[in-house]
Amino acid sequence: MSHSIIRKSSWMMAGLLVSLLCSTGIASAQSLQVKQWAASCSACHGTDGYSEGGMASLAGQKKADLIEKMNDYKSGKRVASIMHQLSKGYSAEQIEQIAEYFASLPHEKPVATKTK
Ligand code: HEC
Repeated sequence: MSHSIIRKSSWMMAGLLVSLLCSTGIASAQSLQVKQWAASCSACHGTDGYSEGGMASLAGQKKADLIEKMNDYKSGKRVASIMHQLSKGYSAEQIEQIAEYFASLPHEKPVATKTK
């Protein structure tokens, strides 16, 4: 009889492990998705939103500012050559997540520390 108890608890452990793995998997899949959206901005705004000049950097801007600018491009309030079209391709939720991502980055591009 004690044998079946052990089997039951090992199934429970397995179930716990699976649910743990799944929840972390979903979280990282979401952030991967946001990074992919943000990566499409990098083509023009620089890697990770750090412009190399001649273009506005997105990294380190305030989340609310980024959302407002994107919405103003969408509505046509902000005149643009490209962004008025591009912004329409993203839902309010996507814009919020992209804005949160860029806002989470430091304003200045982190300097890569050299390893000797
Ligand atoms: C094809 C090039 C291109 C891509 C890709 C692009 N942008 Fe832009 N972005 C521009 C240009 C050009 C401007 C200047 C306004 C204009 O003429 O459209 C701009 C301006 C902006 C501004 C205003 C900057 C400021 O602070 O004044 C924001 C915010 C912005 N883009 C966000 C984004 C986001 C977020 C993405 C990715 C979802 C993105 N852009 C992708 C070209 C691009």
